[in-house]
Amino acid sequence: MILDQLKAATAEAHESLERRLHLAQHPVSRGSYSAYLRAMYGFVAPLEAAFGQLPPDLSKTLELERRCKARLILQDLEVLAPGDSKPPFCEVLPEQGTAARALGALYVLEGSTLGARWLLRHLAPLGIEGCSAYLNSYGEDLGAMWQRMRAVLQTHSRLHPEHDAELVATALQTFQRLDAWFVRCGAAEVSRAA
Ligand code: HEM
Repeated sequence: MILDQLKAATAEAHESLERRLHLAQHPVSRGSYSAYLRAMYGFVAPLEAAFGQLPPDLSKTLELERRCKARLILQDLEVLAPGDSKPPFCEVLPEQGTAARALGALYVLEGSTLGARWLLRHLAPLGIEGCSAYLNSYGEDLGAMWQRMRAVLQTHSRLHPEHDAELVATALQTFQRLDAWFVRCGAAEVSRAA
């Protein structure tokens, strides 16, 4: 089943990134929080722009407008680090152009909302209540939004099983390219395996 395939294919990449994220280390600092948000914005904002090419019915099913959260990152950065320049965009994004590729990338971006709950607890000593809209994105609806994302992935796989491989490959590529971008932005340690 597609959800098991996605989890299995990306488990190692997820674990590796989680281990090397500066933000996940002790002690936490506002500097590493800002670096995380800046790197995330540079990756998420241009990808969200690419999702704009999806057919309207799929965008609606995905609740794409609500899932596009780059604006929340900018909002947080304005409070956290006012006066800082706008973060640069990543130029090596996961390949887009089909529904399966968009779903593969979205699986990763939406999955990160689950880790965000852990990060919020980890960052509590920083007192970031006024600048945590992105990490807090769905609030009480987090579980429901994730379940609905999973349902869209399952439906897509049932209707277009021939696109599963492309979807899963894009999810892995999304992790890999996000990881490389985090390293380049100074938001994660270089991988010893790289
Ligand atoms: C310190 C940082 C992170 C921690 C501690 C963390 C932790 C977690 C945890 C505990 C889950 C499982 C939740 C559940 O099954 O209910 C999860 C799921 C997930 N996380 Fe992370 N995460 C982190 C960062 C990220 C990042 C940066 C991404 C990608 C942008 C990411 C992508 C995912 C995905 C795709 C899933 C879903 C896995 C599945 O298919 O069930 N995570 N994360």
